[in-house]
Amino acid sequence: MNILHISAECYPVAKVGGLADVVGALPKYLNEAGQEASVIMPFYDVTFTQQHQFETVYEDAVFIGSDNYKFQVLKLKDKAVKFDLFLIDIPQLLFKDYVYSYDDSLRFTAFQIATLKWVQLHRNKLDVIHCHDHHTGLIPFMMQYCYRFENLKSIPTVLTIHNAQYQGWFSHERIDMIPEFDKKHIGLLDWDGSINPLAAAIKCAWRVNTVSPSYMEELKQNANGLESLLSHEAAKCSGILNGIDTTVWNTETDTFIKKQFKVTNNVSGKKANKKWLCDTYGLDLNKPLFTFIGRLVYEKGSDLFPVVFDEFLQEYKASIFLLGSGDTETEQQLTALKEKHSGSFNAFIGYDEALSHIIYAGADFLLMPSRVEPCGLNQMYSLTYGTIPIVRSIGGLKDTIVDITDGGFGFTHMDTTVDDIKNAMHRAMVFYENTTAFRKTRKRIMMIDHSWDNAAQQYINLYDSLKNE
Ligand code: ADP
Ligand code: GLC
Repeated sequence: MNILHISAECYPVAKVGGLADVVGALPKYLNEAGQEASVIMPFYDVTFTQQHQFETVYEDAVFIGSDNYKFQVLKLKDKAVKFDLFLIDIPQLLFKDYVYSYDDSLRFTAFQIATLKWVQLHRNKLDVIHCHDHHTGLIPFMMQYCYRFENLKSIPTVLTIHNAQYQGWFSHERIDMIPEFDKKHIGLLDWDGSINPLAAAIKCAWRVNTVSPSYMEELKQNANGLESLLSHEAAKCSGILNGIDTTVWNTETDTFIKKQFKVTNNVSGKKANKKWLCDTYGLDLNKPLFTFIGRLVYEKGSDLFPVVFDEFLQEYKASIFLLGSGDTETEQQLTALKEKHSGSFNAFIGYDEALSHIIYAGADFLLMPSRVEPCGLNQMYSLTYGTIPIVRSIGGLKDTIVDITDGGFGFTHMDTTVDDIKNAMHRAMVFYENTTAFRKTRKRIMMIDHSWDNAAQQYINLYDSLKNE
Protein backbone atom coordinates (compact mmCIF):
# COMPACT_ATOMS: atom_id res chain seq x y z
CA MET A 1 0.00 0.00 0.00
CA ASN A 2 1.07 3.56 -0.65
CA ILE A 3 0.73 5.67 2.49
CA LEU A 4 1.44 9.38 2.77
CA HIS A 5 2.12 10.70 6.29
CA ILE A 6 1.43 14.40 6.77
CA SER A 7 2.98 16.04 9.81
CA ALA A 8 4.37 19.26 11.28
CA GLU A 9 7.42 17.44 12.71
CA CYS A 10 9.66 14.59 11.58
CA TYR A 11 12.99 13.48 13.08
CA PRO A 12 15.74 14.26 12.10
CA VAL A 13 14.42 17.23 10.10
CA ALA A 14 12.55 19.13 12.80
CA LYS A 15 11.73 17.92 16.29
CA VAL A 16 9.93 19.49 19.21
CA GLY A 17 8.82 16.27 20.90
CA GLY A 18 7.71 12.69 20.39
CA LEU A 19 5.59 13.45 17.31
CA ALA A 20 8.83 13.90 15.37
CA ASP A 21 10.24 10.61 16.65
CA VAL A 22 7.11 8.74 15.59
CA VAL A 23 6.83 10.29 12.12
CA GLY A 24 10.55 9.75 11.59
CA ALA A 25 10.29 6.06 12.48
CA LEU A 26 6.89 4.60 11.56
CA PRO A 27 7.24 5.12 7.75
CA LYS A 28 10.63 3.44 7.84
CA TYR A 29 9.23 0.39 9.62
CA LEU A 30 6.20 0.33 7.28
CA ASN A 31 8.61 0.24 4.34
CA GLU A 32 10.57 -2.56 5.94
CA ALA A 33 7.30 -4.45 6.21
CA GLY A 34 6.77 -4.12 2.46
CA GLN A 35 4.64 -0.94 2.27
CA GLU A 36 5.44 2.28 0.41
CA ALA A 37 5.30 5.03 3.01
CA SER A 38 6.44 8.62 2.55
CA VAL A 39 6.25 11.84 4.57
CA ILE A 40 5.33 15.41 3.71
CA MET A 41 6.05 18.23 6.14
CA PRO A 42 6.78 21.98 6.15
CA PHE A 43 10.17 23.28 4.99
CA TYR A 44 11.54 25.15 8.02
CA ASP A 45 14.75 27.14 8.29
CA VAL A 46 16.53 24.63 10.55
CA THR A 47 19.90 22.87 10.64
CA PHE A 48 18.72 19.85 8.66
CA THR A 49 17.32 21.89 5.77
CA GLN A 50 20.47 24.03 5.73
CA GLN A 51 22.72 20.99 5.51
CA HIS A 52 20.91 18.86 2.93
CA GLN A 53 20.07 19.17 -0.76
CA PHE A 54 16.56 19.21 -2.16
CA GLU A 55 15.06 19.14 -5.63
CA THR A 56 11.90 20.97 -6.62
CA VAL A 57 9.21 18.56 -7.75
CA TYR A 58 6.20 20.89 -7.98
CA GLU A 59 5.38 24.59 -7.95
CA ASP A 60 2.05 26.26 -7.41
CA ALA A 61 0.32 28.84 -5.20
CA VAL A 62 -2.20 28.85 -2.36
CA PHE A 63 -4.81 31.60 -2.37
CA ILE A 64 -6.12 32.61 1.03
CA GLY A 65 -8.52 35.54 0.97
CA SER A 66 -6.84 38.14 -1.22
CA ASP A 67 -3.36 36.77 -0.49
CA ASN A 68 -1.42 34.59 -2.82
CA TYR A 69 1.32 32.37 -1.36
CA LYS A 70 3.63 30.76 -3.87
CA PHE A 71 4.92 27.38 -2.82
CA GLN A 72 7.24 24.62 -3.96
CA VAL A 73 7.26 20.97 -3.07
CA LEU A 74 10.84 19.90 -2.40
CA LYS A 75 12.13 16.35 -2.24
CA LEU A 76 15.13 15.33 -0.16
CA LYS A 77 17.91 14.26 -2.54
CA ASP A 78 20.03 12.07 -0.26
CA LYS A 79 19.22 9.00 1.81
CA ALA A 80 19.30 10.64 5.25
CA VAL A 81 15.93 9.02 5.95
CA LYS A 82 14.66 5.66 4.79
CA PHE A 83 11.51 6.91 3.09
CA ASP A 84 10.67 9.52 0.47
CA LEU A 85 10.60 12.88 2.21
CA PHE A 86 8.75 15.84 0.70
CA LEU A 87 8.68 19.35 2.15
CA ILE A 88 6.35 22.23 1.43
CA ASP A 89 8.24 25.48 1.04
CA ILE A 90 6.06 28.55 1.57
CA PRO A 91 8.77 31.14 2.24
CA GLN A 92 6.53 33.77 3.85
CA LEU A 93 4.79 31.37 6.22
CA LEU A 94 6.75 28.21 6.93
CA PHE A 95 10.43 29.00 6.41
CA LYS A 96 11.15 30.03 10.03
CA ASP A 97 13.74 28.86 12.55
CA TYR A 98 10.95 27.37 14.68
CA VAL A 99 8.20 24.80 14.20
CA TYR A 100 5.44 26.34 16.32
CA SER A 101 4.59 29.90 17.26
CA TYR A 102 1.72 31.60 19.06
CA ASP A 103 -0.87 31.51 16.26
CA ASP A 104 -0.19 28.96 13.55
CA SER A 105 -3.64 28.72 11.95
CA LEU A 106 -2.65 30.48 8.74
CA ARG A 107 0.70 28.69 8.49
CA PHE A 108 -0.71 25.19 8.88
CA THR A 109 -3.89 25.83 6.87
CA ALA A 110 -1.74 26.98 3.96
CA PHE A 111 0.51 23.93 4.46
CA GLN A 112 -2.49 21.61 4.29
CA ILE A 113 -3.96 23.25 1.18
CA ALA A 114 -0.58 23.15 -0.59
CA THR A 115 -0.17 19.50 0.38
CA LEU A 116 -3.55 18.57 -1.07
CA LYS A 117 -2.86 20.46 -4.31
CA TRP A 118 0.24 18.33 -4.75
CA VAL A 119 -1.56 15.16 -3.61
CA GLN A 120 -4.04 15.63 -6.46
CA LEU A 121 -1.27 14.87 -8.93
CA HIS A 122 -0.66 11.50 -7.32
CA ARG A 123 -4.17 10.59 -6.29
CA ASN A 124 -4.30 7.41 -8.35
CA LYS A 125 -1.40 5.79 -6.59
CA LEU A 126 -2.23 6.79 -3.01
CA ASP A 127 -3.99 4.25 -0.81
CA VAL A 128 -4.06 6.10 2.51
CA ILE A 129 -3.56 9.66 3.73
CA HIS A 130 -2.29 9.52 7.31
CA CYS A 131 -2.64 12.79 9.27
CA HIS A 132 -0.91 13.50 12.59
CA ASP A 133 -2.42 15.85 15.18
CA HIS A 134 -4.38 19.07 14.68
CA HIS A 135 -1.82 20.69 12.35
CA THR A 136 -3.10 18.36 9.63
CA GLY A 137 -6.64 18.05 10.98
CA LEU A 138 -8.41 20.01 8.24
CA ILE A 139 -7.27 17.56 5.57
CA PRO A 140 -9.96 14.86 6.03
CA PHE A 141 -12.65 17.58 5.89
CA MET A 142 -11.15 19.31 2.86
CA MET A 143 -10.84 16.00 0.99
CA GLN A 144 -14.51 15.27 1.60
CA TYR A 145 -16.17 18.65 1.21
CA CYS A 146 -14.03 21.32 -0.51
CA TYR A 147 -15.04 21.59 -4.19
CA ARG A 148 -11.50 21.88 -5.44
CA PHE A 149 -10.43 18.66 -3.73
CA GLU A 150 -13.47 16.65 -4.79
CA ASN A 151 -11.33 14.16 -6.69
CA LEU A 152 -9.68 13.10 -3.41
CA LYS A 153 -12.93 11.99 -1.75
CA SER A 154 -12.37 8.29 -2.21
CA ILE A 155 -8.90 8.15 -0.62
CA PRO A 156 -9.17 6.82 2.95
CA THR A 157 -7.87 9.04 5.75
CA VAL A 158 -6.41 8.11 9.13
CA LEU A 159 -5.89 10.53 12.01
CA THR A 160 -3.41 9.74 14.76
CA ILE A 161 -3.96 11.78 17.90
CA HIS A 162 -0.61 12.28 19.62
CA ASN A 163 -1.99 14.88 21.96
CA ALA A 164 -5.60 16.01 22.28
CA GLN A 165 -4.76 18.93 24.56
CA TYR A 166 -3.84 21.03 21.53
CA GLN A 167 -6.64 21.35 18.98
CA GLY A 168 -5.65 24.24 16.68
CA TRP A 169 -8.77 26.34 17.37
CA PHE A 170 -9.49 29.47 15.34
CA SER A 171 -12.44 31.77 15.05
CA HIS A 172 -15.29 31.45 12.54
CA GLU A 173 -14.30 34.89 11.28
CA ARG A 174 -11.32 33.21 9.62
CA ILE A 175 -13.37 30.54 7.86
CA ASP A 176 -12.29 32.05 4.52
CA MET A 177 -8.89 30.41 5.00
CA ILE A 178 -10.54 27.12 4.05
CA PRO A 179 -11.25 26.59 0.33
CA GLU A 180 -14.91 26.85 -0.72
CA PHE A 181 -17.37 24.20 0.42
CA ASP A 182 -21.13 23.87 0.86
CA LYS A 183 -21.80 25.76 4.10
CA LYS A 184 -24.30 23.15 5.22
CA HIS A 185 -21.22 21.17 6.31
CA ILE A 186 -19.85 23.93 8.55
CA GLY A 187 -20.89 21.98 11.65
CA LEU A 188 -18.19 19.41 10.88
CA LEU A 189 -15.52 22.06 11.41
CA ASP A 190 -17.06 23.51 14.55
CA TRP A 191 -16.75 22.48 18.16
CA ASP A 192 -18.15 24.68 20.87
CA GLY A 193 -18.32 27.82 18.73
CA SER A 194 -14.81 27.68 17.23
CA ILE A 195 -13.30 26.09 14.16
CA ASN A 196 -11.56 23.11 15.72
CA PRO A 197 -9.20 21.23 13.35
CA LEU A 198 -8.71 18.30 15.73
CA ALA A 199 -12.45 17.85 16.23
CA ALA A 200 -13.01 18.16 12.47
CA ALA A 201 -10.49 15.39 11.87
CA ILE A 202 -12.08 13.15 14.50
CA LYS A 203 -15.41 13.64 12.73
CA CYS A 204 -14.19 13.30 9.13
CA ALA A 205 -11.25 10.84 9.16
CA TRP A 206 -12.14 7.28 8.24
CA ARG A 207 -10.20 5.93 11.21
CA VAL A 208 -8.84 7.59 14.34
CA ASN A 209 -6.23 6.24 16.70
CA THR A 210 -4.37 7.39 19.75
CA VAL A 211 -0.78 6.46 20.57
CA SER A 212 -1.70 4.09 23.41
CA PRO A 213 -4.81 2.07 24.29
CA SER A 214 -5.16 3.60 27.78
CA TYR A 215 -5.09 7.15 26.39
CA MET A 216 -7.97 6.27 24.07
CA GLU A 217 -10.04 5.24 27.08
CA GLU A 218 -8.99 8.26 29.14
CA LEU A 219 -9.99 10.66 26.36
CA LYS A 220 -13.62 9.65 26.77
CA GLN A 221 -13.40 11.21 30.26
CA ASN A 222 -10.79 13.92 29.77
CA ALA A 223 -10.06 15.33 26.31
CA ASN A 224 -9.94 19.09 26.76
CA GLY A 225 -13.59 19.40 25.74
CA LEU A 226 -13.79 16.61 23.15
CA GLU A 227 -14.94 13.84 25.52
CA SER A 228 -18.45 13.43 24.09
CA LEU A 229 -17.16 13.57 20.51
CA LEU A 230 -14.68 10.76 21.18
CA SER A 231 -17.34 8.65 22.88
CA HIS A 232 -19.67 9.26 19.93
CA GLU A 233 -17.01 8.28 17.38
CA ALA A 234 -15.75 5.31 19.44
CA ALA A 235 -16.57 2.77 16.72
CA LYS A 236 -13.84 4.04 14.42
CA CYS A 237 -11.31 4.75 17.18
CA SER A 238 -8.54 2.54 18.56
CA GLY A 239 -5.26 2.78 20.47
CA ILE A 240 -1.92 1.66 19.03
CA LEU A 241 1.09 1.90 21.32
CA ASN A 242 4.11 3.65 19.77
CA GLY A 243 7.38 1.84 19.36
CA ILE A 244 10.92 3.18 19.45
CA ASP A 245 13.40 3.40 16.61
CA THR A 246 16.04 0.90 17.65
CA THR A 247 18.51 2.14 15.06
CA VAL A 248 18.52 5.60 16.68
CA TRP A 249 18.02 4.42 20.27
CA ASN A 250 20.60 1.69 20.66
CA THR A 251 23.24 1.70 23.41
CA GLU A 252 25.61 -0.35 21.26
CA THR A 253 25.70 2.08 18.33
CA ASP A 254 24.61 5.46 19.77
CA THR A 255 27.24 8.00 18.74
CA PHE A 256 25.93 10.69 21.12
CA ILE A 257 26.78 8.80 24.28
CA LYS A 258 30.17 8.84 26.00
CA LYS A 259 30.58 5.10 26.15
CA GLN A 260 28.57 2.56 24.18
CA PHE A 261 27.52 -0.57 26.02
CA LYS A 262 25.60 -3.82 25.86
CA VAL A 263 23.45 -5.62 28.40
CA THR A 264 26.47 -7.65 29.44
CA ASN A 265 28.71 -4.65 30.26
CA ASN A 266 25.98 -2.22 31.27
CA VAL A 267 27.48 -1.60 34.71
CA SER A 268 30.71 -0.09 33.38
CA GLY A 269 28.99 1.48 30.36
CA LYS A 270 26.37 3.27 32.39
CA LYS A 271 28.95 4.32 34.96
CA ALA A 272 31.11 6.00 32.29
CA ASN A 273 28.12 8.02 31.08
CA LYS A 274 27.07 8.87 34.63
CA LYS A 275 30.60 10.00 35.40
CA TRP A 276 30.62 12.35 32.43
CA LEU A 277 27.29 13.82 33.53
CA CYS A 278 28.39 14.19 37.16
CA ASP A 279 31.78 15.67 36.24
CA THR A 280 30.24 18.08 33.74
CA TYR A 281 27.40 19.23 35.98
CA GLY A 282 29.10 19.07 39.39
CA LEU A 283 27.14 16.15 40.84
CA ASP A 284 28.21 13.30 43.09
CA LEU A 285 28.80 10.08 41.14
CA ASN A 286 28.24 7.94 44.23
CA LYS A 287 24.68 9.05 44.87
CA PRO A 288 21.68 7.75 42.91
CA LEU A 289 21.05 10.00 39.93
CA PHE A 290 17.42 11.03 39.29
CA THR A 291 16.70 12.78 35.98
CA PHE A 292 13.99 14.40 33.90
CA ILE A 293 13.99 15.17 30.17
CA GLY A 294 11.13 17.06 28.59
CA ARG A 295 8.99 20.05 27.98
CA LEU A 296 8.41 22.06 31.16
CA VAL A 297 4.63 22.21 30.85
CA TYR A 298 1.69 21.52 33.14
CA GLU A 299 0.91 18.24 31.33
CA LYS A 300 4.30 16.85 32.30
CA GLY A 301 3.85 17.78 36.00
CA SER A 302 7.09 19.78 35.84
CA ASP A 303 5.61 22.71 37.79
CA LEU A 304 5.94 20.52 40.91
CA PHE A 305 9.66 19.85 40.48
CA PRO A 306 10.99 22.93 42.29
CA VAL A 307 9.17 21.89 45.49
CA VAL A 308 9.70 18.15 45.01
CA PHE A 309 13.44 18.52 44.42
CA ASP A 310 13.93 21.03 47.21
CA GLU A 311 12.15 18.87 49.80
CA PHE A 312 13.69 15.63 48.56
CA LEU A 313 17.24 16.93 48.66
CA GLN A 314 16.74 18.23 52.18
CA GLU A 315 15.75 14.75 53.29
CA TYR A 316 17.89 12.42 51.13
CA LYS A 317 21.38 12.16 49.67
CA ALA A 318 20.75 12.06 45.94
CA SER A 319 21.76 13.76 42.71
CA ILE A 320 19.13 15.26 40.42
CA PHE A 321 19.62 16.52 36.86
CA LEU A 322 16.99 18.03 34.57
CA LEU A 323 17.04 18.81 30.84
CA GLY A 324 14.16 20.84 29.48
CA SER A 325 12.59 24.16 28.73
CA GLY A 326 9.15 25.70 28.73
CA ASP A 327 7.25 27.53 31.44
CA THR A 328 9.28 30.59 32.44
CA GLU A 329 8.37 30.49 36.13
CA THR A 330 9.43 26.85 36.44
CA GLU A 331 12.67 27.61 34.59
CA GLN A 332 13.41 30.47 37.02
CA GLN A 333 12.61 28.38 40.09
CA LEU A 334 14.85 25.57 38.85
CA THR A 335 17.66 27.99 38.14
CA ALA A 336 17.38 29.32 41.71
CA LEU A 337 17.44 25.77 43.02
CA LYS A 338 20.78 25.14 41.32
CA GLU A 339 22.40 27.57 43.76
CA LYS A 340 20.55 26.35 46.80
CA HIS A 341 21.42 22.69 46.15
CA SER A 342 24.69 23.15 44.32
CA GLY A 343 26.46 19.78 44.08
CA SER A 344 23.17 17.87 44.32
CA PHE A 345 20.98 19.52 41.69
CA ASN A 346 21.72 20.90 38.26
CA ALA A 347 19.69 21.64 35.15
CA PHE A 348 20.27 22.41 31.51
CA ILE A 349 17.46 24.74 30.50
CA GLY A 350 17.15 24.26 26.75
CA TYR A 351 16.97 21.59 24.10
CA ASP A 352 19.93 19.28 23.44
CA GLU A 353 19.46 16.02 21.57
CA ALA A 354 22.96 14.68 22.35
CA LEU A 355 22.69 15.46 26.05
CA SER A 356 19.33 13.69 26.22
CA HIS A 357 20.96 10.47 24.97
CA ILE A 358 23.76 10.76 27.55
CA ILE A 359 21.19 11.22 30.31
CA TYR A 360 19.22 8.12 29.29
CA ALA A 361 22.54 6.25 29.24
CA GLY A 362 24.00 7.60 32.49
CA ALA A 363 21.02 8.03 34.82
CA ASP A 364 19.82 5.65 37.48
CA PHE A 365 16.19 6.84 37.40
CA LEU A 366 14.03 8.90 35.04
CA LEU A 367 11.04 10.84 36.36
CA MET A 368 7.78 11.21 34.42
CA PRO A 369 5.06 12.50 36.76
CA SER A 370 2.80 13.43 33.81
CA ARG A 371 -0.74 14.66 34.31
CA VAL A 372 -1.42 13.66 30.70
CA GLU A 373 0.77 11.28 28.69
CA PRO A 374 -0.72 10.00 25.43
CA CYS A 375 2.15 7.55 25.01
CA GLY A 376 5.49 8.87 26.18
CA LEU A 377 8.67 7.75 24.51
CA ASN A 378 11.10 8.80 27.24
CA GLN A 379 10.19 5.87 29.47
CA MET A 380 10.87 3.44 26.61
CA TYR A 381 14.22 5.07 25.76
CA SER A 382 15.01 4.99 29.44
CA LEU A 383 14.29 1.25 29.74
CA THR A 384 16.37 0.44 26.66
CA TYR A 385 19.27 2.44 28.15
CA GLY A 386 19.01 0.68 31.53
CA THR A 387 17.49 3.59 33.46
CA ILE A 388 14.60 2.71 35.75
CA PRO A 389 11.51 4.88 35.16
CA ILE A 390 9.47 6.48 37.93
CA VAL A 391 6.13 7.34 36.37
CA ARG A 392 2.63 8.39 37.11
CA SER A 393 0.38 5.55 35.98
CA ILE A 394 -1.50 7.23 33.17
CA GLY A 395 -1.94 6.89 29.39
CA GLY A 396 1.00 5.24 27.68
CA LEU A 397 2.93 5.17 30.96
CA LYS A 398 0.27 2.86 32.36
CA ASP A 399 0.58 0.64 29.27
CA THR A 400 4.36 0.32 29.44
CA ILE A 401 5.52 0.45 33.08
CA VAL A 402 4.72 -2.20 35.68
CA ASP A 403 5.57 -1.42 39.30
CA ILE A 404 8.34 -3.36 40.94
CA THR A 405 5.97 -4.57 43.67
CA ASP A 406 3.78 -6.18 40.98
CA GLY A 407 6.69 -8.15 39.60
CA GLY A 408 7.62 -5.31 37.27
CA PHE A 409 10.57 -3.03 36.66
CA GLY A 410 9.62 0.58 37.46
CA PHE A 411 8.12 2.76 40.16
CA THR A 412 4.59 3.97 39.58
CA HIS A 413 2.44 6.45 41.48
CA MET A 414 -1.25 7.25 41.21
CA ASP A 415 -1.33 11.04 41.20
CA THR A 416 0.73 14.00 40.11
CA THR A 417 1.30 15.41 43.59
CA VAL A 418 4.43 16.40 45.50
CA ASP A 419 3.88 13.59 48.01
CA ASP A 420 3.27 10.88 45.42
CA ILE A 421 6.37 11.83 43.44
CA LYS A 422 8.53 12.01 46.57
CA ASN A 423 7.24 8.67 47.86
CA ALA A 424 8.03 6.99 44.56
CA MET A 425 11.51 8.54 44.56
CA HIS A 426 12.01 7.32 48.11
CA ARG A 427 11.02 3.77 47.12
CA ALA A 428 13.55 4.02 44.30
CA MET A 429 16.28 5.17 46.74
CA VAL A 430 15.68 2.13 48.91
CA PHE A 431 15.78 -0.15 45.87
CA TYR A 432 19.05 1.43 44.73
CA GLU A 433 20.70 0.28 47.96
CA ASN A 434 19.97 -3.35 47.07
CA THR A 435 22.71 -3.61 44.45
CA THR A 436 21.87 -7.15 43.34
CA ALA A 437 18.19 -6.46 42.70
CA PHE A 438 19.00 -3.09 41.15
CA ARG A 439 21.48 -4.55 38.66
CA LYS A 440 19.20 -7.47 37.85
CA THR A 441 16.37 -5.06 37.02
CA ARG A 442 18.65 -2.96 34.83
CA LYS A 443 19.55 -5.97 32.76
CA ARG A 444 15.95 -6.98 32.52
CA ILE A 445 14.68 -3.61 31.32
CA MET A 446 17.35 -3.34 28.64
CA MET A 447 16.04 -6.53 27.09
CA ILE A 448 12.37 -5.52 26.79
CA ASP A 449 11.35 -5.25 23.14
CA HIS A 450 9.75 -1.89 22.25
CA SER A 451 10.62 -1.91 18.57
CA TRP A 452 8.21 -0.58 16.00
CA ASP A 453 7.65 -3.92 14.26
CA ASN A 454 4.58 -4.79 16.29
CA ALA A 455 3.01 -1.32 16.07
CA ALA A 456 3.79 -1.05 12.34
CA GLN A 457 1.87 -4.27 11.80
CA GLN A 458 -1.10 -2.87 13.72
CA TYR A 459 -1.08 0.20 11.44
CA ILE A 460 -0.95 -2.07 8.39
CA ASN A 461 -4.00 -3.94 9.72
CA LEU A 462 -5.73 -0.60 10.22
CA TYR A 463 -4.94 0.48 6.64
CA ASP A 464 -6.12 -2.95 5.38
CA SER A 465 -9.43 -2.51 7.14
CA LEU A 466 -10.08 0.54 4.94
CA LYS A 467 -9.74 -1.28 1.65
CA ASN A 468 -13.31 -2.39 1.22
CA GLU A 469 -15.14 0.71 2.42
P1 ADP B 1 6.26 14.82 24.19
O1 ADP B 1 6.17 14.53 22.74
O2 ADP B 1 4.94 14.97 24.86
O3 ADP B 1 7.17 15.95 24.49
P2 ADP B 1 7.52 12.17 24.38
O4 ADP B 1 7.92 11.37 25.58
O5 ADP B 1 6.67 11.47 23.40
O6 ADP B 1 6.89 13.53 24.91
O7 ADP B 1 8.80 12.58 23.54
C1 ADP B 1 9.69 13.56 23.92
C2 ADP B 1 10.89 13.47 22.98
O8 ADP B 1 11.56 14.72 22.99
C3 ADP B 1 11.92 12.46 23.41
O9 ADP B 1 12.65 12.04 22.26
C4 ADP B 1 12.81 13.26 24.36
O10 ADP B 1 14.08 12.70 24.53
C5 ADP B 1 12.85 14.57 23.60
N1 ADP B 1 13.09 15.78 24.40
C6 ADP B 1 12.18 16.45 25.15
N2 ADP B 1 12.73 17.55 25.70
C7 ADP B 1 14.02 17.55 25.29
C8 ADP B 1 15.13 18.45 25.51
N3 ADP B 1 15.00 19.52 26.27
N4 ADP B 1 16.30 18.17 24.91
C9 ADP B 1 16.43 17.05 24.13
N5 ADP B 1 15.44 16.19 23.88
C10 ADP B 1 14.25 16.44 24.45
C1 GLC C 1 2.78 13.57 22.00
C2 GLC C 1 2.51 13.04 23.40
C3 GLC C 1 3.45 11.95 23.83
C4 GLC C 1 3.66 10.94 22.71
C5 GLC C 1 4.11 11.66 21.46
C6 GLC C 1 4.35 10.71 20.30
O1 GLC C 1 3.70 14.58 21.98
O2 GLC C 1 2.49 14.09 24.35
O3 GLC C 1 2.94 11.30 24.96
O4 GLC C 1 4.63 9.99 23.10
O5 GLC C 1 3.14 12.56 21.06
O6 GLC C 1 3.19 10.00 19.94
